[in-house]
Amino acid sequence: MPSYLETAVDIARESGALLSHYLERKVGFELKGKHDLVTEADRASERLIVERLRTHFPSHGIVAEEGGGHESSSEFRWYVDPLDGTTNFAHGFPVFNVTLALEQAGEIVAGVVFDPTRQELFTAEKGGGAYLNNRRIQVSKAQTLEDSLVATGFPSRQRHLNVNIHFYYQLAMITHGVRRAGAAAIDLAYVACGRLDAFWEFGLNPWDMAAGLLLIEEAGGRTSDMRGAPASVQGPHLLAGNGALHEEMVQLFGEIFNGKYRYPIPEILP
Ligand code: IPD
Ligand code: CA
Ligand code: CA
Repeated sequence: MPSYLETAVDIARESGALLSHYLERKVGFELKGKHDLVTEADRASERLIVERLRTHFPSHGIVAEEGGGHESSSEFRWYVDPLDGTTNFAHGFPVFNVTLALEQAGEIVAGVVFDPTRQELFTAEKGGGAYLNNRRIQVSKAQTLEDSLVATGFPSRQRHLNVNIHFYYQLAMITHGVRRAGAAAIDLAYVACGRLDAFWEFGLNPWDMAAGLLLIEEAGGRTSDMRGAPASVQGPHLLAGNGALHEEMVQLFGEIFNGKYRYPIPEILP
């Protein structure tokens, strides 16, 4: 019998192929909120994933972004993001993925992030390591923020309440650069495989980060909230990295929370 992870991989690949098909057809989008896009592809992918999960694991609960999931009394619960990076997808910007993860009794035990554009499959099982296309991956070895490439994201919902711009500027000044590619699960997978040294975002949802949390843990990295307390899949705030940078980031974030900026934002001169 295939493992939970193997089944999740098959489903993610099938959904990835579906997303690629929709991308070629250049589907339009609708708005869930002022800047919060959704497409036919999000919905079709979610229908496919939920249907497959129900067939394989009828007793498991499912939490899926577009609302197709269902509660259950089982200790197993799937988190599903049928299309992570919808804004990118809707504009034909090829950075998006499908991600699903399995929680058992409150602990993430399996996770998949599949990027159909690059045919990159990131997988992890609790205690079994993290993999990219079946090759073991590890977080980077960067020791200081000065030597690092980091990433962040800005959620579509409630943009006016998001304080991240303060953090973005300080990190942009200190590091080699801050990337904002628009697909949180890929950002987290990239931390796991060392392409990025750290990632943070205010206001993530469980389906954005469930697989990424496990990937990073299994790749030897560290995850927490913005102040260094243990990360929760419920979020909403996440700081994740290679471990070596964690204390430095928590310290820097603490300063920013206290209104102390190492680099003042330059004034615009007339
Ligand atoms: C979004 C993306 C984005 C992140 C947002 C997420 P979606 O997911 O991951 O990078 O900044 O917080 O909501 O809506 O495209 O699935
Ligand atoms: Ca998402
Ligand atoms: Ca999504």
